[in-house]
Amino acid sequence: MINMDPRQQFLALLLVLLLPVLCFQPCYASSVTRRFRFNLEWKKVNRLCTTKRLLTVNGQFPGPTITVNEGDDVEIKVTNRVANNTTIHWHGIKQKRTGWADGPAYVTQCPIGRGQSYTYKFTVAEQRGTLLWHAHYSWQRASVYGAFIINPRLPYPFIAPNRPIHAEIPIIFGELWDKEVDDFEATMLATGAGAAISVAYTINGLPGPLYPCSAKDTYTATVEYGKTYMIRVINAALGDELFFSIAKHTLTVVEVDAVYTKPFTTTAIMIAPGQTTTLLLTADQLPSDPTATFVMAATPYVTSIFPFDNSTTMGYLKYNTTGTISKDRTQNLPKMEDTKFATTFTNRIKSLASSQYPCNVPKTIDRRVITTISLNLQDCPQNKTCTGYDGKMFMASMNNQSFLRPSTSILETHYRTGLGTGSSGFPERPLNKFDYTGGNASTMNTNMEFGSRVIVVPYGTKIEIVLQGTNLLAPENHPIHIHGHNFYVVGTGFGNFDESRDPKGYNLVDPPERNTVGVPMGGWAAIRIEADNPGVWFVHCHFEPHTSWGLATGFVVQDGPLPSQRLLPPPKDLPAC
Ligand code: C2O
Repeated sequence: MINMDPRQQFLALLLVLLLPVLCFQPCYASSVTRRFRFNLEWKKVNRLCTTKRLLTVNGQFPGPTITVNEGDDVEIKVTNRVANNTTIHWHGIKQKRTGWADGPAYVTQCPIGRGQSYTYKFTVAEQRGTLLWHAHYSWQRASVYGAFIINPRLPYPFIAPNRPIHAEIPIIFGELWDKEVDDFEATMLATGAGAAISVAYTINGLPGPLYPCSAKDTYTATVEYGKTYMIRVINAALGDELFFSIAKHTLTVVEVDAVYTKPFTTTAIMIAPGQTTTLLLTADQLPSDPTATFVMAATPYVTSIFPFDNSTTMGYLKYNTTGTISKDRTQNLPKMEDTKFATTFTNRIKSLASSQYPCNVPKTIDRRVITTISLNLQDCPQNKTCTGYDGKMFMASMNNQSFLRPSTSILETHYRTGLGTGSSGFPERPLNKFDYTGGNASTMNTNMEFGSRVIVVPYGTKIEIVLQGTNLLAPENHPIHIHGHNFYVVGTGFGNFDESRDPKGYNLVDPPERNTVGVPMGGWAAIRIEADNPGVWFVHCHFEPHTSWGLATGFVVQDGPLPSQRLLPPPKDLPAC
């Protein structure tokens, strides 16, 4: 500012101060491109007294962590070195106009076949925090998953200057199975049988000391007394919501699904498959404990009557002193059926909603879709034997539509021929009205329609989707995930949604902004979305067996009038079906 007069100096200073606010696209344009290579390959790992063959990325289990800065362009070249088809999904990444890089098989792309490569190219913009990536083909995400970390452009809003983050601790939950998972889906669908359940949960791929032959396979995080840590928690399990806690320590929630929240402290968290969160932990317990090790543990939050894996994965938080690992296994977890804890915890999550990170929840809507989400029993086809309940087949649906993946990607069909609002239309109200969460639902005829019907909306539509759980077969908490957009959870409740009463109680000030919502067991959740991302976006239950059974639909956003509101053309290396 040497040769400037005071007025020029003032303007220059103002520009510097305003730069973070003013530069949206221009700043991103000057960002770097981060490149990664993912090779899909088999890897033998020893767990639970046996050697298992796991499908992995680059031989790592869990897979490699992707770390980028907000605003970066990302290119990930995925090469398939196995015989099975595959795709990879960057769960929670908004994929503005780049639906071709989203990943769900037969929704946005055909699978990557044996020996083929496909480079996923997208920009990470306007989101920051912890997400995950995972395979999106059959049940491959059982072992093909990893963390996706977005460092913010601006300093963290929740860090006091005198208490910087000393280090980050990854906590990625997964499951282990006693067989290779690749055939599970096909078997289930062929016989109508219930879902296979896992034999262990894992923290960073390690089951911990409560399982056979696993004492050495225990995750231990080492901390220093007095320091503050950032824990990045990811639930990559296929079929279970989990409680997580660290004995004698409190956790501060500061972000969920890569969106900042109003910070709050808790003794434990509940996290659904597909959900991610960032927690702050202060290592404040040392002097009182001679061994200075504390149990961290995760166990399922159970709302289903179906068989489930009721085991507990355990690791340690160890202070870096000379103490040995303690034999004390005291945990801090709620009971597996503790719906009250799960509900109270979930209701405490609110958007930060500051001037720098506003909560842009649509205050008004153009359209409301009400859809049931349910498990179903489908009559067994003639000349077949079905092994689901009552000689029928287990299935699942939304508004009685059981989603079948088409033989080519819906995004390609949409791009080449356009999906109108006509025949493709997903029913926007339940076809049969009944007491969804009442006592008689279990005796109803629950046969469904099969197909690939989708919700189609013009660009810019403000849409509300009410997800109504049902007692068909069994009430259950379903984690519903939407690709390509975050949404705002404006209301939740138990029982049946009442369209005249419940919207009056919505939170339109600071509702949580997420990509995956746990719909309360025997209840409903209302979410609002501004449809500002043209493309075809998968909507589904993040319990893998439920997706296999058809608890899914598509959300199609048409192109807007401006060039910047249009889906980009497909990349040249997009795999063909
Ligand atoms: Cu995390 Cu459609 O998935």
